[in-house]
Amino acid sequence: MAKSKIKHPSEPKNIAIAGATGAVGQEFLKIFEQDNFPIKSLKLLASARSAGTTMKFNGEDIIIEELTEKSFEGVDIALFSAGSSITKKFSQATVDAGAVLIDNSSAYRMTDNVPLIIPEINPQEAKNHQGIIANPNCSTIIMLMAVFPIHQKFPVKKIIVSTYQAASGAGWEAMEELKHASQAILDNKEFIPKVFPFVGAFNLFNHNTNIDETGYNEEEIKMVKETHKILRNDQILVSPTCVRVPVLRAHSESIHLEFVGDAPSEKEVTKLLQDFSGIKVVDDREKNYFPMPIDASEEYDCLVGRIRKDIGDPKKSMELFVSGDQLLKGAALNAVQIAGLL
Ligand code: A2P
Repeated sequence: MAKSKIKHPSEPKNIAIAGATGAVGQEFLKIFEQDNFPIKSLKLLASARSAGTTMKFNGEDIIIEELTEKSFEGVDIALFSAGSSITKKFSQATVDAGAVLIDNSSAYRMTDNVPLIIPEINPQEAKNHQGIIANPNCSTIIMLMAVFPIHQKFPVKKIIVSTYQAASGAGWEAMEELKHASQAILDNKEFIPKVFPFVGAFNLFNHNTNIDETGYNEEEIKMVKETHKILRNDQILVSPTCVRVPVLRAHSESIHLEFVGDAPSEKEVTKLLQDFSGIKVVDDREKNYFPMPIDASEEYDCLVGRIRKDIGDPKKSMELFVSGDQLLKGAALNAVQIAGLL
């Protein structure tokens, strides 16, 4: 029953994708094709390295153009996924050209007047935009998709979350690096990573972002701050541990919820999740079958399971496990859903 839905804008749009050749950029094209999204014109933008090459869209070759300040004339919606420095460099030109910029990077997520949107959770914020809308961090999106349906009915006091993050979050080159590292290890060869600080294959390591004076890494701090902004609630306590694992494209998260009041029953939680658009409950104790990144990959819905009372504090707390496609709900799908709100 629960299926991620993409609303369509009232009329076809002129769309530009900045970072079209990247891991997320390619997913935009697939979603537009699969969803038959109403598009009047589509412009594919990337670096000078890719300019002149082509990408297929609905069977046609589209020539990739170099991203410049002049790229946005006549564009209604500009989907950016080329990193925060590129967003910052071109945001003014995009807004001046009259396009709405939907950004996948962290450039403006915490900026006042920039809505930070998960369409199943706070779609109403879209109407407050002033030219830029931010897509939240992938780990935040996947966590809140599982937590929000429960929190709405049974307010949550504290979230303790551990992530198992795929290589895709660091882009196409990181996914390739994971494949090459795996092959090198199987072949008994030395492998020196270039994208990640450590070998990702047959290993896991602390998320590859800087650690501040609190001891938390940047990814973890994003999950805390973005949760407060999206829920408009800075009282909710969030304590994340973010880890990279040797998975290609879907993130998983182990989530501990402590409630303000008594914890709801497992049945109540299951029903709330089943009824929420964008969530599929995968929770079969007999078969020991629960969310796995391999099943979540290329799925629009986030998979939630391991729904159980905290054995140490069954009155107040619960546990969940979620897997969601980082490139889709964690990035491209969420951004296209935002475009559909406009
Ligand atoms: P290109 O393929 O031409 O380098 P990913 O997140 O998978 O690493 O992808 C990053 C995306 O951002 C790619 O589409 C990449 O294009 C694009 N990009 C990187 N640097 C620039 C730049 N200076 N100008 C425009 N696009 C860029």
